[in-house]
This record gives sequence, structure tokens and C-alpha cells, in this order.
Amino acid sequence: MATTQYLKDWQPYPFELLETRLEFDLSATATRVRSALRFRRRAPGPLILDGAGLRTLSIRIDGNDLDRSLISHADETLSIPEALIPEGEFTFFAEVEISPEENTALEGLYLSGGIFCTQCEAEGFRHITWYPDRPDVMAPFHVRIRSEKPVILSNGNPVTRQQGFAEWHDPWPKPSYLFALVAGDLVAITDHFTTRSGRGVELNVWVRPGDQDRAGFAMESLKNSMKWDEEVYGREYDLDVFNLVAVDDFNMGAMENKGLNIFNSKLVLASAETATDGDYERIEGVIGHEYFHNWTGNRITCRDWFQLCLKEGLTVFRDQQFTSDMRSAAVKRISDVQTLRARQFREDQGPLAHPPRPDHYQEINNFYTATVYEKGAEVIGMLKRLVGEDGYRKALDLYFDRHDGQACTIEDWLQVFEDATGRDLTQFSRWYTDAGTPRLTMTEAWQDGRLTLGFTQSTQPTPGQSEKPARVIPIAVGLIGPNGDEVQATTVLEMTEPAQEFTFDGLGARPVVSLLRGFSAPVTVEREISAREQALLLAHDTDAYARWQAGHDLALDALVALTEGRDAGPHLSQALGGLLEDAERDPAFASLCLALPGEEEIAGTIAARGGVPDPDAIHAARGQLIRDLATTHETRLAELFDSMQTDGPYRPDAAGAASRSLRLAALSYLSRLDDGARAQALSDSASNMTERLGALEQLVALGKDERALREFADEFGKNRLVMDKWFMVQPMRTAPTGAVQRANALAQRSDFDWKNPNRFRALIAGLGANHAAFHGKDGSGYDFLAKWLIRLDPVNPQTTARMCSAFETWRQYDADRQAHARAALERIASVPGLSRNTSEMVSRILG
Ligand code: PHE
Ligand code: ZN
Repeated sequence: MATTQYLKDWQPYPFELLETRLEFDLSATATRVRSALRFRRRAPGPLILDGAGLRTLSIRIDGNDLDRSLISHADETLSIPEALIPEGEFTFFAEVEISPEENTALEGLYLSGGIFCTQCEAEGFRHITWYPDRPDVMAPFHVRIRSEKPVILSNGNPVTRQQGFAEWHDPWPKPSYLFALVAGDLVAITDHFTTRSGRGVELNVWVRPGDQDRAGFAMESLKNSMKWDEEVYGREYDLDVFNLVAVDDFNMGAMENKGLNIFNSKLVLASAETATDGDYERIEGVIGHEYFHNWTGNRITCRDWFQLCLKEGLTVFRDQQFTSDMRSAAVKRISDVQTLRARQFREDQGPLAHPPRPDHYQEINNFYTATVYEKGAEVIGMLKRLVGEDGYRKALDLYFDRHDGQACTIEDWLQVFEDATGRDLTQFSRWYTDAGTPRLTMTEAWQDGRLTLGFTQSTQPTPGQSEKPARVIPIAVGLIGPNGDEVQATTVLEMTEPAQEFTFDGLGARPVVSLLRGFSAPVTVEREISAREQALLLAHDTDAYARWQAGHDLALDALVALTEGRDAGPHLSQALGGLLEDAERDPAFASLCLALPGEEEIAGTIAARGGVPDPDAIHAARGQLIRDLATTHETRLAELFDSMQTDGPYRPDAAGAASRSLRLAALSYLSRLDDGARAQALSDSASNMTERLGALEQLVALGKDERALREFADEFGKNRLVMDKWFMVQPMRTAPTGAVQRANALAQRSDFDWKNPNRFRALIAGLGANHAAFHGKDGSGYDFLAKWLIRLDPVNPQTTARMCSAFETWRQYDADRQAHARAALERIASVPGLSRNTSEMVSRILG
């Protein structure tokens, strides 16, 4: 039944949907949904509605009953022939019954800890009732809900709120994927926001009773987001109420339903004792992200799901800008690049590679990927660099102006940039349609004060795409003189050919090229550069990203050398020494540089250079390098560990987070020398979760964790979100030889509530993130993952399918490991009744 959908087959819907009326009688096992959809014909053809797993009680058009034989359960459609449809306007009525309690897939209407809630993106609404469940069919919604639950919410503005009943009206036409309903025993923290043009908005963050004191940061973040979008994009909120609800069972991070955002509780609830600095930053970013969707996603939505990056790439780009403005722009850029490399480059170089705008899929839920989201954002960053601040602003104004209320395509998006700036974007559009990460090589020629840079670009074939024509690549460069002074400020070279030269004249002495400043394009770079030159850039580059990259490359080269049994050389240690000297000046930057490349990245680098990575050797080499560096720099690291204490009450701001991250970076080195003494002391005394968990990570890695883990569980046993951390740190940080055994033991615990996606991911993806354990020579890591994916699939296909990507690099390892991985993947593939989601993923990964 695996059918493939193609972009080229898209057809407009032959009916206009004028209004949607819904009535819910909520009950855990037998919820009744009555719908009235008022249509007007636009073009000839049958009326086709989507529906899945519905018990259909009645269907009719105007006064006429329709025969149930029009329903195809196999196709999940109801097809009403043209002959049964009146001319002009008519209303389709349905009454169906559904069972939220049995809905473990968390798609459609389900129960989370007694709270009724919905998740409709991408195709969840069809699990609620018969509907044209596609993003280009938009309508205003009237919703009436009967329920005994004290709080009853839906999209838009409230019409009636009383005990047992609520009525909501959303005047803004929207597609079904933005529908939401919540009913439960909830309490709100409430605040107000006045928009620039004077609209008063009631803001509510809804949580379970008892969680209110951990919802304040979410509210602050929401208000900051609303203000930022007015100031930076000129976008205002457009309803009288904004509701945000936290639920414990959620497949993803959060969802931008119009006026009623629903969040995974881990992205709402935070206090000093329970959330880390990283959690706070993510909460702020995701609250921003969902709020920004109100314009980029809701007011302007996608014509079809192939255009997903139209809303996601742009909204990620906007949330990244927001975080840069709220915190440190340099740190944000460097960590975004790190995630992009770790997740998107890996995707682009393996069997799951696809363009930001795919042109076919079997299951759209498998395309909420790093490529659609993060690369989608990078492509916008490049566009902005090419057209400049002004051009970007003009193009965005035109986009909102021209397309408000519409369902759009990537072509519409590029057209506004062409119209606003006069630039031809034909070649640029390949970034949207072509998969793969271009490899950029640079050579240098120096003569008589003239530096000639020769670039070539090439992209490896990806599944289904063998030809890769040249792309437009904005290459931001600067030049650093031998004494460390910048002799050429940042300039953007616009590469459009497969091979191209650029020259710089009138230079006194041969400079070092600071290449791809700000990570101006999502490409990999190859160049000849000595360790001495890298150290010069790390010390003197004026571009923070390029400085960090120089240090990172230096460390990567040292790690690859050590893994392959060669010497690491003195340069990394010397450079780090220099960096540690004035680490206090920029603790966040220093801690980013101290975090050596991870084992996964080292493996990927060895594979990209044509080698076969050995996970055990990588693990050993990395451990050895940390120990050596710790020994050399012990005094200074210990000084920093002591001086980076933050005094006074915990504040989750960028400055506090920076000190703590440098402190924990120092701890990760020192723990190799002090046998965990500092980590144990910190675990005993820490008053915030950042340091508590940071200390615990070290103790687990050293195998000295018994007391710390016990005390942690005693203290936080009742807090699900905190216990997720406890479940994750163990499989992820335990020494590779014991990790699978430990994961198996944890899986036996009665509080391993594996149907909860957060808990499942904590343990199962935790093991997947322990590189040497997951890729253990005996195949036990692969078997562990396969066993759990097979168990989860019938319960929750979406979460199962997404986690299959742990296997996406399997072909880069040796023959024994490949055989184990293949066997595990084939075991999953052969499960009878495997979901469409998981079978698509496994078959793509097997290739
Ligand atoms: N649209 C959501 C976001 O990016 C993600 C999401 C997709 C959530 C599908 C749930 C289901 O914010
Ligand atoms: Zn989004």
C-alpha cells in the first residue's frame, strides 16, 4: 500500500470551502464529532474527502443521505461523484465516532495524562473527521465543544465559555492542520500584551495544577517574541487571545495551531532546580518559533507538503535571528553550524539525502528533517547575504503584502525576492531542488603582492539525482596578515561556476585566508592549511565563527591523527593554552573551543577522507587527548573551574550560562585527572540543574555514579522531565563496554514508560548517541535499537520512524558492523504490518 506522492501531480482542489462548523461531545472512548462544511464548486470533478480510522455514523449533502459504500477504507477517502453534488453552494454533513483513549500514535485527538488534545500537522485531522485534509483548502472555523473538563480551548477567539461547554470562533481562514482542541484540568498563568496598533491580547500559558511556578519563563519568552516580531519584521498578533498549552505526550517539540499553540512540556516548564541553561535557551527559541509561525506558516501557509520548508526554513531562520538578538549572536551562529553539520550534513551524505524541497515522498511525516528545517534556514541566510539587509527587508514586506491569506510555493517566495531586488534567482533556486552538500576546494597562488584564490565546487550524486550542476555560493572571506592584523575586511565572493578565480592585489606580505566567514554557505571546505596558520586564525581572526572553525579543524586533525596511530603534534595544545590564558574575556567562546569534536564527527571525517572509522579507536583516542591536554593545562583549568562559579540566585541569561558552560568544560578535562573528586563535590553542592547534570555526566562516564544517580532519583523521582535526563545520561555517557547492558537494565524499570515519546527517546536515542556503544563490534547496540523500534512501531509509528535515522551512517563502517546493521534493519523491515512511516525509512536506509 506504499504509494508515492509526486509534486508534479499536484492539482487545485475543485471546491472552495467557505466555512467549517464542528461540534464535539468529548469522551475518552467514544467522542462524537459532527461537522458541517459549506462548499462552492470551482471546477468539475468529484468531492473527495480524507478520513482514517473513523466510525462513520452518517454522511449527507444538504438533506440527502449518502451511501456508506462511497467510503474506501483502503484509500482512506470518501469519494462523492459529481452527479450527487448540487450546483453552486452546498453543505456536507458528517457524524463520526472516535476513541481518543486508544490513540497511542498521538496524531489526531488523543489523551495525555487525562487532557484531551490534538495534533493535526501534517495529516492528523483526517483522524478526527471527513475533510479535505490538505493545506491549500482554508476556511474560518466555528467550534462547539461539550466536555466535563474545566478548561475547554480551541483556535481563535472565545464566543462562550461556561461549565461543560465552550464555543470558539477563528475568523482567519486556515487549513485543517492548524486546527486544535484542548480540554482538561488545567491552570493558567495569565498576562497581557498590547500590540503596536493598540490591540489588547490576553496571554495564557496552561499547565497542570502544581506546574504554574515553572511556567513564568515561557510567558516572558512569549512576550519577548511578540515584541521582537513587531520590531524586526513589522508583524503584529491578530486575535484577542493567545493560548499556549503544555502536554507530556507529544511526538515533536511543539505545534503552531492558530491562537492555540501546543507544546511538549519539556519546552515550557523550567526552574533553576529542574532545567539546564540549554533547556532555557531552547524554550525561548521554540516559543519564538511557534509564535513566529503565526505569520510565516499560518497567515501565509504552504500550498502542499512538498513546500514544507517555505514555512519551516523561514521560521527557523527567524527564531535563529531572535535568539541572536536575545543572547550572543556569535555563540548562536557557532552552535547552529555545529547542529547543521552534525545532523544535516550527515543526512545529505547518506541514504536519506533529499532537497529542502523534495519532489516525492511516501509518508510526509518522514520529511520533518534537518534538511527541510535547518538547511531551509541556511538557504534563506544565503539569500539575505546576496541581496543585503535592505533587499531582504523589501522582499519580506512584499511577501507579507502579496501573499497574506494564501497557500504558497517556493516559486512564490523566490519571485518576491526577484521582484523586490531585480536579481535573477534561477540558478540560486537549485539550493531548493538539489540534494547534497557541495564540496568547495580552494587553492592559493601568491606572487608580487597578488593573492589568487582558485575555487572549485562539486556535489556527490544523491539518491535519485545523479547530475549536480554548479550552484551560486556566497563565499565570505577576509585576509589576516602574518602579524595577526586584518588586511582585508569581510568581502563576499559570489561563485557561480564549477571553477572560478578571485584575486586580491596590493598586499604587502602573504596573508592567511579566513574562509567562509560566518559560515556563509552550507558547504564543506577543503584547502591546504598548516597547523601554524590555523593557530594564527584561532588567535587573531576578527570573525568569531572563523576563529572557532580554525580551532575546531585543528582539534579534528589531531583527533584523526591520534585515531590512526600518528602523533597529534604540539599545535593544538599550544593554541588551547593561548585560548585559556584569556578565557575570562569570552567564556562562552572558550567553552565552545574546549569542547572537542565528538566521536560521531570524527568518524564522519575519517569516512569522508576515504577511511573506515573504528569506533573503539576513536573513543580511546579522544579520551587520551583530553587526558593529555588536561595534564598540560591542569593549573589553568583548575583556576577557571573555581573562578567560573556564578554567585547569587540563578539567572538563565547568556552571561550566567557562559560562565557555567566554561566551568563544566574545565570539569570535563579535570575529571580525567582527579578521579571524579570535583564532579562529586559539585553534584553534592550544585543548586541548579545545569551544574548538577554536568557533574552527573562526568561521574557516569567515569563509572563512579552510584551515589549521585541514587540521590538524583530520590530527589526528582516524581518529576518526569527531570527523570528523562536521568534516563538519558546513563546510556549516553556510560563507557561503551557497559552501555547496552545498562540500557537493558533501565528498560526493565517500572518507570520506563516507553509509550511516552520523551521517555522512549531518552533511553533509546540516548544509547544511539553513545557512538562506540551503538556501533559496538558485536552488534548489540544495533540489536537493542531494532528491538525497541519494532516494539514501538505499532504503538507510535511517527516516533519510531524518526528514530530509524540512527542507522543512516551504517555503510561507513567495516564489513562486520555493516553485516550486523543490515541484519537489524532487515529484521525491522520484515515485521508483518510494519507502518508506512517506518517501512519507508528502513527501505531508504537499506538503499
Ligand atoms: N510544525 C511544527 C513546528 O515546526 C512541528 C510539528 C510537525 C509538530 C508535525 C507536530 C507535528 O513547529
Ligand atoms: Zn516550525
